[in-house]
Amino acid sequence: MMIVTLTSLAIIIASASSQPLRSIASEKGLCYIGAAVNEAYFTQESYRATAAEQYNLVTAENSCKFGSIQPTRGEYNFQGCDSVLDFAVENGMQFRGHNFIWARFNPGWLEDGDFDSDELVKIMTDHINTVGSRYKNKTIAWDVVNEALNDDDYGLRDCIWHNITATESYTSYVDLAFTLARAADPQAKLFYNDYNVASSTGWSKGKSDAMFEMVKGMLERGVPIDGVGLQMHVGCGYDMFDGVRDNMSRYHEIGIEVHITELDLACEDKPEENKDCVWGDEAQEEQAETYASLLEICVESEACTNFETWGFTDEHTWLDEGTHPLPFDEEYEEKFAVKAMRDVLLNA
Ligand code: G3I
Repeated sequence: MMIVTLTSLAIIIASASSQPLRSIASEKGLCYIGAAVNEAYFTQESYRATAAEQYNLVTAENSCKFGSIQPTRGEYNFQGCDSVLDFAVENGMQFRGHNFIWARFNPGWLEDGDFDSDELVKIMTDHINTVGSRYKNKTIAWDVVNEALNDDDYGLRDCIWHNITATESYTSYVDLAFTLARAADPQAKLFYNDYNVASSTGWSKGKSDAMFEMVKGMLERGVPIDGVGLQMHVGCGYDMFDGVRDNMSRYHEIGIEVHITELDLACEDKPEENKDCVWGDEAQEEQAETYASLLEICVESEACTNFETWGFTDEHTWLDEGTHPLPFDEEYEEKFAVKAMRDVLLNA
């Protein structure tokens, strides 16, 4: 692994190449370079142009979620999700679906509906069938289930879907969702997506191991799962590179693909280390090193096929003002991160 040092970073930053990330990655047959986009910003030319120029895979930040697509029971609103798919098709990008089933961001009629298990199975079946078949053969992968593991004992978190009781054919709502998704769109790759699971060592080991065991169990039961999504909402100074590499290797060994799905590297204070993140060249260089190191791990991994950030410009991020988490700045100018990522791709 090439260590990206401050000196080499200075050389990288000064390097002449301005080739778009997506074209280097496509030319070399490397992983997808993806970003979450929000159709609310499609009216901004700089937003559309930068996304189209640099990325070859997009995910809708919100508009393909249950709460957006079925705000009223049985009434489907595909406008937002369609517009992200259209943007992908117009710009020769892959479209990634996020997400069918999640504990959060569900519509009021569902959360407050007091439905029994049979009714919830009907609701889940209708939703996955309707949405999955609409985007059939147009979606490279779906996050079928998002963030099902709790953060305490890493069992299934309590949520509306958890009221679905096990039967002979499925042990939990997770198995059922994957089986329904395969039927709705047989060609789409089916992913389980979660946070605090990227490294199989250090503070995320517990949840990372629980997710690995859950996926292995699904494979043993014949549940159709193809991959896992590592969200990676972490900080500029994230450095658990060996743990991420080992985690990707163990998934490769069981035939499971890996996507980094929601990466952002916030400049954040670390009170436990008594370290404040002051945004400037030093923080930006640290951020660039981390983006470059994680991209290199993905490029070198046989399992990792998508390197995706949750947004791409600091102008539009779910994170707090002043955290500067993404590769392009508020003016859509390349930050050191883009240059460092470009160098990793050019040297791959
Ligand atoms: O659309 C309504 C708007 O009508 C209303 O006026 C406004 C004020 O309340 O809310 C708008 O909905 C917001 C929605 O984003 C669209 O902007 C919701 O309140 C807000 O909670 C929602 O936040 C999204 C969040 O997921 C919840 O779905 C974030 O933008 C999105 O970045 C975030 O993404 C998640 C991933 O899906 C899963 N992993 C974690 C990641 C970050 O939380």
